[in-house]
Order: sequence, then structure tokens, then C-alpha cells
Amino acid sequence: MEKRNAKRGPRRRLNRVVVPRPSQHRFYGHGLPGVDTDRLAGKLIVVEGADGSGRSTQLAQLVDWLEGSGHATVQVGLKRSTLVSEELEQAQQGNILSHRTLSLFYATDFADQLENIMLPAMKAGRMVLADRYIYTLMARDMARGINPAWIKNIYGIALVPDAVFYLNVSADTLVERNIAKNAKLDYWESGMDIGLSRDLFESFMKYQGQIQSIFRKLQRTYKFSSLDGERSVGQIQKEMREKVAKVLTR
Ligand SMILES: Nc1ncnc2c1ncn2[C@@H]1O[C@H](COP(=O)(O)OP(=O)(O)O)[C@@H](O)[C@H]1O
Ligand SMILES: [Mg+2]
Repeated sequence: MEKRNAKRGPRRRLNRVVVPRPSQHRFYGHGLPGVDTDRLAGKLIVVEGADGSGRSTQLAQLVDWLEGSGHATVQVGLKRSTLVSEELEQAQQGNILSHRTLSLFYATDFADQLENIMLPAMKAGRMVLADRYIYTLMARDMARGINPAWIKNIYGIALVPDAVFYLNVSADTLVERNIAKNAKLDYWESGMDIGLSRDLFESFMKYQGQIQSIFRKLQRTYKFSSLDGERSVGQIQKEMREKVAKVLTR
């Protein structure tokens, strides 16, 4: 135990905002031009999982905890870029775009948020919390038969996150939770556009099964933490905080 030097007087009160030291970051591939990844002091924490897997619930608690311990946070998610989100919404209304075009729309939305929100926030030492990331986009593309090498190249612009949590929840539980929440099964989240079944429910079960097996494959490549999302909210949150705490001191 270190004895405090009396001459220095009482320990200065901890600054409200904790800015971590710059740490090693890198892109998956070519990245964004002109970005110096050495100067990113903030961390990137990603939560992945299907609709109803509990991402929003877990992220809200992570934000509370991080903010409470003095970290400034910024939240991002898919289809939130001001650049293309409206166009994406419109394009999805009518089933008019090819898979590959839709995929490029999503990639553009991602690149815009990466460049204009995530990287600047991390430079300023903020914690970026992402409600889904490139893995969902890749999984959706793969389920639609798009060439994996093409997909991988597109998302070479992405920054490697400091932590990725995948909330693993069975399709049955997803349906239960969505019903409890009074949420209709989403057309796209049910893979209705790829014609697995004309019945929304049946299509959802099949599609989510496919997405889950794709995620298992992606997990081997991208090494993210797969969490049992069927446990209580508190148990899952506890595991996440333990893992994030390790990331914060890195
Ligand atoms: N671990 C859990 N156990 C039981 N219900 C949960 C759990 N996590 C979330 N829920 C409930 O499931 C529903 C979907 O959760 P939500 O966080 O909105 O998921 P997502 O953002 O992934 O769609 C909500 O009604 C939420 O209260
Ligand atoms: Mg949500």
C-alpha cells in the first residue's frame, strides 16, 4: 500500500469525465482513409442479436452504468444515418431493390455513421455503444446468397470493436417476447423477401434459424462473446459489465 504524500494535501476530487488512455485499434481491412487508429481513446462496444433478444434492454443498463462511472457514451445503430436512412425506409416499402443494392444502402449507412459519429466520438474518448454492427449486415447478406468475399471486402472499412456481445436466444423465445411486447414480427426480420414461406411466423422461424447458424460461423471468424440471452436481464448484464470492465483498463 502506498502512503499518500501529506504535502500534496487531500487527493483531488475525481474528474467527472473519465477519458481512457488511447489504446490499440485497427480496421478489419482497408478501413477509412486518413484515419489514425492510434488516436482513438474511446472504446467500441457492440451488442448483437435478433429482434427481441434483449439488446435495447442490456444497452440501456450498460449506458447507465458507464455514465454513472464517469464515461461519456454515444449510441449508434443500424439505419440511423441521416445520409440514407429515409431512402432505406422508402426502398424497403416496396420490394424494389435487388439484394445487392439494398446491401450497399446498409453499407453506406454504416460508413456514414462510422466516419461522422463513431470515430469522432472515440477520438474524444467516448464510449461508443452499438446496437448491432456489421455482423448483422453480413449475416443478412449471407442469408440472401451474396458472395461472402464481396461482403467481407465491403466491411473492411469497419473498426474492430473492443467487445462484441451476441445475445443468443432461441427462435421460440424471440417469438414469445415479441408477442409479449405486442410487436408484430418484422417482414425483413422474418426473411419474407427471400420466400422461405408465405406464412410470416413460419418464415420467421426458418429465417432466424438460418441467421443463428450464420452467426455461429461468424463467431468463429470474428471471435465475439456469445452470451446465453435466455437468462435473466440481471445475470446477462452482470456478465457484460465484467467483460466491459476488463476492456476499460486495457
Ligand atoms: N433476459 C430477458 N428475459 C426476459 N425478457 C427479456 C429479457 N431481455 C429483454 N426482455 C424483454 O423482451 C422484449 C424485447 O427486449 P428488447 O430489449 O426490446 O430487445 P431488442 O432490442 O433486442 O429487440 C422486451 O419486452 C424486454 O422487456
Ligand atoms: Mg431494440
